[in-house]
Amino acid sequence: MNDRQHRQIAAWERRWLAFSGVMTLTFVMLIAYNLATEGAHVAQRTTKATPEQILAQEVFREPGVRQLAPGKVQVTTVARAFAFAPADVRVPVGVEVEFYLTAADVIHGYQIERTNVNFELIPGEISTLRYTFRRPGVYRITCNEYCGIGHHEMLGTITVVPASQWHVQGAGRPEEPGAGGASADADATPDGASLDGASLYAANCVACHQANGRGIPGAFPPLAGHAPELIVEQGRDYLPLVMVYGLQGPIEVAGASYAGVMPAWAQLSDAELAAVSNHILSAWDEGAMPADFRPYQPVDFAEARGLGLSSSDVHQRRSE
Ligand code: CUA
Repeated sequence: MNDRQHRQIAAWERRWLAFSGVMTLTFVMLIAYNLATEGAHVAQRTTKATPEQILAQEVFREPGVRQLAPGKVQVTTVARAFAFAPADVRVPVGVEVEFYLTAADVIHGYQIERTNVNFELIPGEISTLRYTFRRPGVYRITCNEYCGIGHHEMLGTITVVPASQWHVQGAGRPEEPGAGGASADADATPDGASLDGASLYAANCVACHQANGRGIPGAFPPLAGHAPELIVEQGRDYLPLVMVYGLQGPIEVAGASYAGVMPAWAQLSDAELAAVSNHILSAWDEGAMPADFRPYQPVDFAEARGLGLSSSDVHQRRSE
């Protein structure tokens, strides 16, 4: 290589160095511009804990909407594959809302349309931000980080209402009694407490059976169109067995075969199991239930727990 070639190469090198320097500077300036004018801020590690420790916090055990003080509202939400709990919340317009969010399993997103609220939710961390909605309306929430097969099902809403129409109900519960239609009655428990079967479904069942209750063909059987059939064919005491003990063994639903691997849900309380079962029976199949069917009560599940069965026993019971 002669001197002339050397100089030429050196010149090119200097040009590329200058170019990459300018590029770096441009990106730094873009970030600075966003931080200064668009209200963006760099996520800060607020906590360092295991997801279990965070989920054990009072606010996350019963996530929902709380009034912290007059003029200050908190929305607590747990994102897990593949739902937000709670999925639908109601807040007043013109009032500062503190979002207090976490993820239970994998990284999820939490983006509210038409606002600059856009979180990344990380298991073991709490994400928080204050935002005041200026206009009433329904704002959709989406998970914008790919989190698995049901990612596209991770949706929710924030309904912003005039302050006069807003009042705090229990955390995570439907905000207006009666607005939910028939299922509100079915979810009522004898002690007067109302558990929300829809939220329980969203938190526990939706990953396999899907929000529309249709399951995933070949993997998870549908509940829509099938759950009432089970009551008719297997009797009232069968569904509590599946809930408490799970189901292990091949089954057929609507002509399709499934390798039944329903896990047991004994960790839920009897009242929760009753609420979610009544939700499953009423959510998609209005009118399909026998007219004399009484909604499940916690005692139905307490009785099932007393039987000491296995998931294979439940499968055998089904085949009989
Ligand atoms: Cu959660 Cu995507």
